[in-house]
Amino acid sequence: MARFAQLLASAAALVAGASAIGDESILINEIGRLNNQSLLWGPYKPNLYFGVRPRLPQGLWTGLMWGRAEGYTDIQQLFRYTCEQGQDIHGYGWDEFDARTGGVQTIHDEGNGLDVTISFIKVPGGSHGGSWGARIKATVRDDAPPDSNYLVHYYVAQEELGDLIVQGDDNGGLGFEGDVTFKGSSHSLGDYNVVITKGTGNHPTSDHEISATRRGDTTVVRSVSLAANDVWQAKPAVFQFMQDTIKDMQQDYDEENFPPPWQIYRIKSQAGGGNAHVVQKVFEGGFEFDIIFSSASAGKEMTSKDITREIKVASESFGERFSSVFDLKAPYTAEKYQKFGKSMFSNLIGGIGYFHGHQLIDRSYADEYEEENEGFWEDTAEARARKAQQLEGPYELFTSVPSRPFFPRGFFWDEGFHLIPIADWDIDLTLEIVKSWYNTMDSDGWIPREQILGPEARSKVPPEFQVQYPHYANPPTLFLIIEDFMERLRSANGSAPAEKEKLSQGHTLYSAHLDNLELGGDFLQKIYPLLRRQYDWFRKTQRGQIKAYDRESFSSKEAYRWRGRTETHCLTSGLDDYPRPQPPHPGELHVDLMSWVGFMTKSLISIADALNLADEIEELKKNLFAIERNLDDLHWSEKEGCYCDASIDEFEEHALVCHKGYISLFPFLVGLMQPDDAKLGKILDLVGDEDHLFSPHGLRSLSKQDALYGTEENYWRSPVWMPINYMALTQLYKIGTQEGPFQRQARGLYNKLRTNLVDTVYKSWEETGFAWEQYNPETGAGQRTQHFTGWTSLVVKIMAMEPLDEAVHIRDEL
Ligand SMILES: *[C@@H]1O[C@H](CO)[C@@H](O)[C@H](O)[C@H]1NC(C)=O
Ligand SMILES: *[C@@H]1O[C@H](CO)[C@@H](O)[C@H](O)[C@H]1NC(C)=O
Repeated sequence: MARFAQLLASAAALVAGASAIGDESILINEIGRLNNQSLLWGPYKPNLYFGVRPRLPQGLWTGLMWGRAEGYTDIQQLFRYTCEQGQDIHGYGWDEFDARTGGVQTIHDEGNGLDVTISFIKVPGGSHGGSWGARIKATVRDDAPPDSNYLVHYYVAQEELGDLIVQGDDNGGLGFEGDVTFKGSSHSLGDYNVVITKGTGNHPTSDHEISATRRGDTTVVRSVSLAANDVWQAKPAVFQFMQDTIKDMQQDYDEENFPPPWQIYRIKSQAGGGNAHVVQKVFEGGFEFDIIFSSASAGKEMTSKDITREIKVASESFGERFSSVFDLKAPYTAEKYQKFGKSMFSNLIGGIGYFHGHQLIDRSYADEYEEENEGFWEDTAEARARKAQQLEGPYELFTSVPSRPFFPRGFFWDEGFHLIPIADWDIDLTLEIVKSWYNTMDSDGWIPREQILGPEARSKVPPEFQVQYPHYANPPTLFLIIEDFMERLRSANGSAPAEKEKLSQGHTLYSAHLDNLELGGDFLQKIYPLLRRQYDWFRKTQRGQIKAYDRESFSSKEAYRWRGRTETHCLTSGLDDYPRPQPPHPGELHVDLMSWVGFMTKSLISIADALNLADEIEELKKNLFAIERNLDDLHWSEKEGCYCDASIDEFEEHALVCHKGYISLFPFLVGLMQPDDAKLGKILDLVGDEDHLFSPHGLRSLSKQDALYGTEENYWRSPVWMPINYMALTQLYKIGTQEGPFQRQARGLYNKLRTNLVDTVYKSWEETGFAWEQYNPETGAGQRTQHFTGWTSLVVKIMAMEPLDEAVHIRDEL
């Protein structure tokens, strides 16, 4: 340990003193620059089926829309743009994706009778983040209505000041015969071209007289200048243009001699300058075309031929990388699990988005922050009704999202789980995301738990959920990622000089922060004070009362209470409707929160140790000791054999309130229990008890025996959730692989839980085409939000975990 700290310290000293020599700080800057370049472009509008934007507050963004030109009323319903739940789409998402090179997405659009494949590739080069291309290919499904015509729109918009001008001639409004080229330039992107190729496919014809002005075989472009606040509204823009053409037509024809639908919606071409452009094509049956963005600084314009080649290269390297990063273990070595794993992982990493804009924060009711009065939750409701929120910002956030259709924005507690598989794949990308989250922290140490940035993000959220409160916490799961990174850095020990060589040639990123001790150390040194600030904020704002109620415990300080609970919910805990003491009481103590604080303390100790911060370590170790003792003194129930929340009873006494379930396991889940602790045996009994938590589909959120099992909203009151199951699984693995009285029990549980989880998610995915937010503990069916490829994607990690031999030799049985 000490050796590693020395090594890091000398690496850091090297960086600090480097300006004289130059080498190391140049390396750090150079890798930072390369990383920015490599991550500039992506499908960073995950709320759309396909929306490409750069990782910049303002820039060029583009998006795809399509729909069958069917009866005159179906156009709204069949129009595809934002990802939606419950449409007649049988599965969609990335089959392969890598943030450095691109990937392939397929959309099984039953409603329209199309299977759409979108291949997206990135090509490095030049000084403006390189070039990219997308191939849009649609084939008609067997179940499609015959002779269908499809309207396809591509939206191209420039948010930054600059030029974006269509080249060439649109035949006086009839449209372009060949490819369409936009020439653009702006400060952050330099000069560039966007080409939308003519592509292939049949175009519809009609013998209606309107055909003289509305042809099917051209590409029309409608250019317009929109107000800055409206540029994000691509779909209303398209509908506005379609309405214009319908209006024209209604004047000229009555119902008997209306032209066919595809001609009704055919936009009149008005190509030129403007910050927004709608490109429209119409096809009879399947089609294919490319969108090619070439950065001038890359020196060479990309062509469709380049795209064909790059798609092949990207797919091959994805396949190779997947099997080496996620080495799936028995019984999941068959090809079908590879495919499943690739899809789950690709949707997670392909769901990463970049968000920018203002968010609603209410800082007005500082007096109520403490929530000290009995009946505080009613005061809180009153304070909320004052509606004193204000827009703050702009903020930016680079993050993955829990679900593209339903939750296309950043969620603090989900993010740590999202990054577990991503960190195995691309630690440099992962640390960018971690940094981005910590950049949103305020000077007190608060990070808004749900980040709803800008009007587009807000348009998806009901008003009552938009406002963030600066005394609300959320589980600090990013600590998982940072501690794990530190451990990997420690074991890599700066031993990959070959990688440095490659980097200087601009070849590879992914693991530069592990391959270069200086770089990894620099990251840890910069993030540590931010983690510490957040930790102090938790300890200050979420404190629970010990002395005020004469509680008996080892430490008179270590006790915690989530702020922001109501009678029915504790949203801040992340376990929304999990039963808590009733009625809410200012003397309440929450065992999950104390566990999270203990977990933060433990992580900080490891990181401080790596950074050789002796004073910090001493203080943190004292805190940890006190937390571990108080968890037992304030939260352990010997009678129930598990941990429980606490409240104040009618005699003004400390009283435990036990609802067996996820919360009862928390000290175990975050790794705060010793392998030889007798209490651990009881916790494992509870985990493994089929009448309580253990089900054939994973651990139930609440015990089957609890009076509230499956009641009311039933959100966290029976269903199986992946993140908690993953935490349990990793702890079982740990206990199962070190000597102790519960080693064998842990191994048995680990093996069973592992296969129960994977089999459940796989089966549901196979049947429905989707990953789900949670799973039914009785039937295993996926429930609630569909296309939930956030933390449910942890299943990839679980398939890559090794099964344990249960015939373990246990010393005290000899
Ligand atoms: C990378 O981009 C971020 C903003 O996204 C910027 O703050 C940082 O300075 C850039 N780093 C380098 C080395 O260019
Ligand atoms: C780590 O690297 C240092 C210096 O490069 C070396 O002395 C040490 O033995 C290495 N430690 C391990 C555990 O490999």
